[in-house]
Amino acid sequence: MNVADSEVVASVLTEKGFSVTTDINKASIILVNTCSIRENAEQRIWNRLRAIRHLKRNNKHLVVGLIGCMAERLKEKVLETEQLIDMVVGPDAYRDLPRLVEEAESGHKAVNVLLSREETYADIAPVRMDQNGVSAFVSIMRGCNNMCAYCVVPYVRGAERSRNPGSIVSEATGLFERGYREVTLLGQNVDSYRWEQGSIKTGFPELIEKVALISPLLRVRFSTSHPKDMSDDLLMTMARHENICRHVHLPAQSGSSRILKLMNREYTREWYMDRINAIRRILPGCAISTDIIAGFCTETDEDHELSLSLMEWAGFDFAYMFKYSERPGTRAARKLKDDVPDEIKTQRLNEIIALQNRLSAKSKKEEIGKVVEVLVEGESKRSREFLSGRTSQNRIAVFPKGDLKAGDFVKIFVERCTSATLIGKIVET
Ligand code: 5AD
Ligand code: SF4
Repeated sequence: MNVADSEVVASVLTEKGFSVTTDINKASIILVNTCSIRENAEQRIWNRLRAIRHLKRNNKHLVVGLIGCMAERLKEKVLETEQLIDMVVGPDAYRDLPRLVEEAESGHKAVNVLLSREETYADIAPVRMDQNGVSAFVSIMRGCNNMCAYCVVPYVRGAERSRNPGSIVSEATGLFERGYREVTLLGQNVDSYRWEQGSIKTGFPELIEKVALISPLLRVRFSTSHPKDMSDDLLMTMARHENICRHVHLPAQSGSSRILKLMNREYTREWYMDRINAIRRILPGCAISTDIIAGFCTETDEDHELSLSLMEWAGFDFAYMFKYSERPGTRAARKLKDDVPDEIKTQRLNEIIALQNRLSAKSKKEEIGKVVEVLVEGESKRSREFLSGRTSQNRIAVFPKGDLKAGDFVKIFVERCTSATLIGKIVET
């Protein structure tokens, strides 16, 4: 989401004559796009700021801006405590950047942290900052209306609003015409995407179908689904279009219905299992990934065991796994006690990671001997003789180069694997 936002920011500023540099020493403005989701994400930002302090010492005209969720959360306070920072800009205020930069350049501290009910940056063509020219993010909505008790997102990114489908389809079409072969539609909860124009209502299944119809050579991915809202209708739409990738990211957060209730997730373990069964039924061979939080308020060993057993039952292909970290202002921070000791959180997280490593390895091993279609993204990081790409299920595959290039689709015979990567050879046709 932040990569997509940085691309909007780059677009707003290039319109005004700035250009993007990859050499930090050449920059006249440094914008640090931030995340507040967990405390360690914020900690990393403070470390990064420390590292750019010396640049400012050598160049007093350098403008340093803190942008994104942390700017929203900490607002003017950062300017008081952090001399280094000249600008604080929240996620709905990027159109105002040219004015704010001018203000900062004239020696004043510049702040805009107003949240909006309408801003979707729909008309802004993001400047692509990815390296491969094959795969791009397309933001379809902003903000979030769910109130998961642990989560700071609704406070720092504001209320949910969907982007005009016409602008989404034209952005994706433009990407395809420029050689991109994969778009990932982004929203905090894509299943609640809604757009009404007169009597025409567009929900997420209709939207993704429109994007899939741009070309069978354009792969479509999306993130993130919410288990309470993910519909069979979406799964059936995916089944109708082979270019909608066979991968659903469905954050479970916990396997215990009691904890899910405290988290205000609005589903139970059984409901979540029903959604997994629906994916398996409607989209055989679809990969499923998840997010799991270890050590939420009041979590017992029993609750933790329920998370492990849910993971085992679902056989996730991949997971993002976190220790619960209390975020100021959230419902959990106000109403619940962060009472699981840190050592226990760490121990539980380690068990979750160990289990997921086993499940990830198993899901890769099951691919050995199969022929899979891969979209080539570029050279493998490990060897220039190999290319790397992804399968529809979002598994990374590497294989000897042949005469292929980024953006090509290729069939690969999977010979072996590591826990993270399929290794194979090109199937001659
Ligand atoms: N502590 C730990 N993990 C969190 N997440 C969101 N808020 C918190 C928090 N306070 C995780 C959830 C979410 C992912 C993006 O980050 O698992 O799905
Ligand atoms: Fe946060 Fe829940 Fe919204 Fe996801 S759905 S962004 S976890 S409040």
